[in-house]
Amino acid sequence: MTTPSKTRRTAVITGASSGIGEATARALRSAGYRVALLARRTDRIDALATELGDGALAVPADVTDRDSLSAAAERVRAELGGADVLVNNAGVMLLGPFSAEQRADYRRMIEVNLLGAITTTEVFLDQIRDGGGDIVNISSVAGRTARPGNGVYAATKWGINGWSESLRQELLPDVRVTVIEPGAVATELPDHITHARTKTDIEALYSQVPVTATDIAEVIAFAVQRPRHLVINEILLRPAGQMG
Ligand SMILES: NC(=O)c1ccc[n+]([C@@H]2O[C@H](COP(=O)([O-])OP(=O)(O)OC[C@H]3O[C@@H](n4cnc5c(N)ncnc54)[C@H](OP(=O)(O)O)[C@@H]3O)[C@@H](O)[C@H]2O)c1
Repeated sequence: MTTPSKTRRTAVITGASSGIGEATARALRSAGYRVALLARRTDRIDALATELGDGALAVPADVTDRDSLSAAAERVRAELGGADVLVNNAGVMLLGPFSAEQRADYRRMIEVNLLGAITTTEVFLDQIRDGGGDIVNISSVAGRTARPGNGVYAATKWGINGWSESLRQELLPDVRVTVIEPGAVATELPDHITHARTKTDIEALYSQVPVTATDIAEVIAFAVQRPRHLVINEILLRPAGQMG
């Protein structure tokens, strides 16, 4: 097989099976990018790749499994010519009062949200560096604030912010690092909360949220399409009615 040329940019999106990742894949594909759709739910990414047509590749990958990320990177290099943009979006938000009963949630959030983004980046870094690229890390308002019940989730997002700031300085000028910090966005994110009362409360809250995944995807697509002499380091965005 011949390696495709890098004349068209290629974006790798983790967590492309739903929510912000799926919407970002749609937005970047519309903007002319090739897109590699990484997630564990293969039925979802296969359907999205079929819908997006030529230039979209479904790549099953678990961000907690380095071997699956290495295999994904090989496919992206062989089938799409390498990655220019990496959107570290995969994440889980397992809220609830701090308690030993939630300890499995804490490990999972750190492994997916923080270590998952770090591992995906080190695996794809050679490709991103080759010719100059972008890393977009999806943090959260919870990367700047914290409140009762979101301590470990906030810790993962504060971690993303600290790591991103170091990476930004280290990779300049070849690679631009952008941190996106959304407030509440109407997605499936609350579905996986294991603490029953918290899940009910957060689902009720999210059912009223006006900001869509598409709203966030448009911002991500805007950021990566700025001219190379300009870097958007950080974007904090909330629903108009969200105070904290
Ligand atoms: N919605 C919000 O209010 C909000 C606000 C601020 C920040 N964020 C952040 O935005 C990002 C996307 O969340 P979302 O709101 O779009 O929620 P979502 O619809 O639940 O999407 C989460 C994505 O993460 C993927 N994922 C979870 N564990 C994974 C793993 N081990 N390996 C690979 N992929 C995995 C899921 O895919 P599979 O299950 O198919 O693997 C899914 O595609 C997260 O980082 C979240 O923290 C969301």
